[in-house]
Amino acid sequence: MHRLITIERHIQMQQREFPHATGTFTAMLQDMALAAKLIARETTRAGLGNILGAADSDNPFGERQQKLDLFADEVIASLNSEAGRVCAMVSEERSGLIDVPPTYGTGKYVLLYDPLDGSSNIDVNVSIGTIFSIHRKYTRGENGTLDDVLQEGMRLLAAGYVIYGSSTMMVYTTGSGVYGFTLDPVIGEFILSHPNIRIPDKPRYYSVNHANARRWPEGVQHFVNELQGGQHGALQLRYIGSMVSDFHRNLLQGGIFMYPPDTHRPEGKIRLMVEAQALAFIAEQAGGYASDGLRDILTIRPHNLQQRVPFFVGNRELVQRAEALIQQHDHEWINAYQTYCQNQRG
Ligand code: AHG
Ligand code: MN
Ligand code: MN
Repeated sequence: MHRLITIERHIQMQQREFPHATGTFTAMLQDMALAAKLIARETTRAGLGNILGAADSDNPFGERQQKLDLFADEVIASLNSEAGRVCAMVSEERSGLIDVPPTYGTGKYVLLYDPLDGSSNIDVNVSIGTIFSIHRKYTRGENGTLDDVLQEGMRLLAAGYVIYGSSTMMVYTTGSGVYGFTLDPVIGEFILSHPNIRIPDKPRYYSVNHANARRWPEGVQHFVNELQGGQHGALQLRYIGSMVSDFHRNLLQGGIFMYPPDTHRPEGKIRLMVEAQALAFIAEQAGGYASDGLRDILTIRPHNLQQRVPFFVGNRELVQRAEALIQQHDHEWINAYQTYCQNQRG
């Protein structure tokens, strides 16, 4: 029989590389796996309970919340409100920092998450996901501050995502490779199924919302034309509209996911803190690359929790080709985007 490695086991094995570790970080990752199981339980029976559909509320980005968004948000926040664990948490579904009860003391980690990504797909039974990342607190005061949250992606300690698809998978990295685990629903364990994920050299797919094509800057239009028949031959188009699933496919099979800027939104749609940083870190750990069209996502100094970025992620060569074409053609967009970035400084 194949050696079975559960996610708990794997996380403990990874921790042995850090002899001074206290176990808190390990516990956080293990609780993300527990949260994933609790959320998977609800997503698989979403049509049965009273949990499907829109809630009567909007998130800080002005988008309608789904009931499952709120459930997932609550599960992750409450599991991590343990004593001495996090000094701050940030969720796509809440504005500002989530208060950690003072009685729990002040932990040394910051948790950022998108509880359900692609949640507009819930009502039609299409795959959705969870994205998370962990920073280390670096300010000296007792409590976590906004500065602890607004760190560059290259300082991340860990990042991961969960896909609630035809099976449930959790993929994570602590900076030494990317590992994927598939949930065995009968025994309730995540089992290592994808050790050391590397993005294949030869890209197969590109994923983008073509409905926005007319509003893309010229360089992006050239780039997508190239993908449809360039030196690599034509790539196939796949777009689910659930970034975690689109990202996951292209990570395993080679290719690029993008949410480019457009004339309505020079800043694009993807959220830097709760979405882009985590996936950029995972992509980089798997041999890929992520950019906002100008530079490595992991080098962007964030200024605002709600900051958005254009997002190009996947095979390094492809993402760099997008950067080159944007540099060549899209000066007007570059100016508009730089103004947006300046304004984020507040
Ligand atoms: P969320 O459900 O967390 O709000 O994120 C939705 C994001 C992302 O998952 C997806 O790739 C993208 O929005 C789809 O946007 P379009 O419908 O504009 O293509
Ligand atoms: Mn999302
Ligand atoms: Mn979401």
